[in-house]
Amino acid sequence: MQAAKLFGSSETWFLVGGTTCGIQAAIMATCSPGEHIILPRNSHISAISAMVLSGAIPKYILPEYDCKWDIAGGVTPSQVGKAIKELQMDGKKPAAVFITSPTYHGICSDLSDISQLCHAYGIPVIVDEAHGAHLGFHPQMPHSAIKQGADLVVQSTHKVLCSLTQSSMLHMSGSIVDRERICRCLQTLQSTSPSYLLLASLDAARAQLGENPGTVFNKALELASEASTIIKTIPGISVLDLLSFNEFPAIDPLRLTLGFWSLGLSGYEADDILDRDHGVISELVGTQSITFAINLGTCREHTQRLVSGLKKLSMSFLHSKTTEMRVESREHAPFNDICISLNPRDAFFANKRSVSIKESLGKVCGELICPYPPGIPVIIPGEVITEKALNYLLDVRKKGAVITGASDSHLSSIVICDV
Ligand SMILES: Cc1ncc(COP(=O)(O)O)c(C=O)c1O
Repeated sequence: MQAAKLFGSSETWFLVGGTTCGIQAAIMATCSPGEHIILPRNSHISAISAMVLSGAIPKYILPEYDCKWDIAGGVTPSQVGKAIKELQMDGKKPAAVFITSPTYHGICSDLSDISQLCHAYGIPVIVDEAHGAHLGFHPQMPHSAIKQGADLVVQSTHKVLCSLTQSSMLHMSGSIVDRERICRCLQTLQSTSPSYLLLASLDAARAQLGENPGTVFNKALELASEASTIIKTIPGISVLDLLSFNEFPAIDPLRLTLGFWSLGLSGYEADDILDRDHGVISELVGTQSITFAINLGTCREHTQRLVSGLKKLSMSFLHSKTTEMRVESREHAPFNDICISLNPRDAFFANKRSVSIKESLGKVCGELICPYPPGIPVIIPGEVITEKALNYLLDVRKKGAVITGASDSHLSSIVICDV
């Protein structure tokens, strides 16, 4: 079966530069310099670099956030509607709306309603579906973004299906986006000598799905469901479900996110023990949780090892003296008071210098500083560095978050724009 037919798009491009390249092409194909794009604050760094390339100006939406899990969710149709209206009040119309769905933790936004809303204004919807190339291939799975009406959808085929690292797909649907402009953007961003190894692996992934599109995920779903049912009975371990994110329509059943606070363990500590003592390798670790990915390569031995490791972890820590809610949860999502001084493109090309953290207060930031978790950038190049943002960063660093993007990950100094 042809890729476009299989994925329900009008056209599908095989890419060799990852979802990163697809996101950059999609944003460049829809946004010209000075035009606005609505996007969640926790968008992947490729969306920020796409704004550097295109000259688009961000209108951020703060994603939903759950303090107990220390995890960001998706965005709701009403948040998108509010952002469109706010731009309208300033006499502007966004050139595109960009959504990440599912999130790394598998939380899906209501793309159907978001697409309908945006199309009523003639605005194209771009979806970062890096973690959702498998969606729609089973009735128990959430619908894919293309099926829900998105115009451009980028998938990391290499993350969830079986193609080689760096290979991805860009799907197009509808007629809002100019196909020729996408081709030009892809030509600008990609090598003129694409790797046939990577392209062949994408074709193999397509063929694997195409042979049995309705049943290929049966075993993975069965293993995930069995494991999740047993894990829910293990004392002290929580399983992420939509109760924590009840504004969202679906969660990927192949992502299992588990919380360990009732055992007095952070996600990092639980992960170390599961890896060291039980040979269980996770997909993603946070302060409060670990996420596991079940996929076409998972077999029963893997899920049994996970369940057995979790049972032993529970027995060891449930009644231990250290088990007193010592893993604090955050009180609020980071920052709602962003002040943009330069757009990402101007900030990228501005002269920069490194200053002490004290000296950086009130200056225009020259780097993207993002603590993991929850993976929401605290400061994006071009934004004014505030006391609140610095205090938040120092606090999460003390609590064990990894600071990415900053040239000095200890945060004794910060790179600023020389403006
Ligand atoms: C949400 C999200 N979007 C985009 C990307 C970029 O994907 P790729 O590595 O295929 O370029 C990632 C990578 O981790 C991601 O997590």
